[in-house]
Amino acid sequence: MSETRIIDASDPAAQNKVVQEAVDLLEVGELVALPTETVYGLAADALNPDAVAKVFAVKERPEFDPLIVHVGSFEQVDEVAEVPDDIKEVVAKLMKAHWPGPLTLVLPKKDCVPDIVTSGLPSVAVRMSGHPVMKAVVRALGRPVAAPSANRFGRISPTSASAVEKELSGRIPAIVDGGACREGLESTIIRPEAGEKRPVLHILRAGPVTKEMLQRFGKIERPKRNRASEVPEAPGQLASHYAPVTPLRLLRDFSDFKPEEGKKYGLLSYCGAEKAGFIDGYDWAHVEQLSPGNGKLAEAAVRFFYVLRALDESGVDEIIAEPVSETGLGVAIMDKLRRASVR
Ligand code: TXA
Ligand code: MG
Repeated sequence: MSETRIIDASDPAAQNKVVQEAVDLLEVGELVALPTETVYGLAADALNPDAVAKVFAVKERPEFDPLIVHVGSFEQVDEVAEVPDDIKEVVAKLMKAHWPGPLTLVLPKKDCVPDIVTSGLPSVAVRMSGHPVMKAVVRALGRPVAAPSANRFGRISPTSASAVEKELSGRIPAIVDGGACREGLESTIIRPEAGEKRPVLHILRAGPVTKEMLQRFGKIERPKRNRASEVPEAPGQLASHYAPVTPLRLLRDFSDFKPEEGKKYGLLSYCGAEKAGFIDGYDWAHVEQLSPGNGKLAEAAVRFFYVLRALDESGVDEIIAEPVSETGLGVAIMDKLRRASVR
């Protein structure tokens, strides 16, 4: 593959043409990077194992890490998953409340889903994106679309077409540029299960649909913190992930910061100068703020991967990251910061 074409989706009048170009690629077993509300996805026809194999090759993704399947309607879930009777009700409620949107459900899979999509697991992860481009492409294709985040394995997820270009240029035929992603963090992944009194929702990956938002649907179970040696229930959730090339250190207490002579340090600050933080504590070579000035977690989530990438490209020797409060969206941000700090 030599050249990666950027298809501009900013003009709503041209949307049908853009969607058709993406569908044409998917229909012949090719890949195309598409915007979603969370992060950009690298899309392939989910029912074509050769196309899905290209996704693994292009991302350099290990085959034990299964892909998320995107559907275009509630009915399409039944094409790929067998929803057991005892969770039908809670699954329907979750879909009604959060689809289209950043929530992925892990359900028992149907035979038509190739093993390569699910890494041989008996379950399939399904979500319905609310992004107009992704939604329109899945509907026009009329088949489910496998789409992991459009980055090389273990690297920073892309929240803009230019970030996808940096990750995958020359490896895929096209990227649809639908602007910056609205949520900025990958979907929340849950596995619903029948419980004694209420359904049990196992959160496999924290994301924009928070524990607080899910509580009313059932009892929340969080996975044990992964260790590198353990096989996590969401196999892609390895201890080391979302890693910038530059080493990153999550520092709780600024008094633990002992700068080395001649080393350049960058700061990943939460809310900048107006509130207490590390910003005035040292002459940082480069500073990026997650939520400039006011410390809003939603803003921090949208900016998270963008800011991480900017620090990585700034030429510093080490990135020092301030913690954010671990409530709501802060849970997903802290989870990613911890994984980014593991080498
Ligand atoms: O927001 C998102 O979910 C984005 C956009 C593009 O849709 N996609 C995304 O995909 O984040 P990816 O491949 O980067 O992450 C998928 C995660 C991995 O951690 C994988 O292990 C988990 O989903 N997963 C997929 N199938 C699974 C299954 N059957 N059981 C448990 N975990 C699964
Ligand atoms: Mg990913």
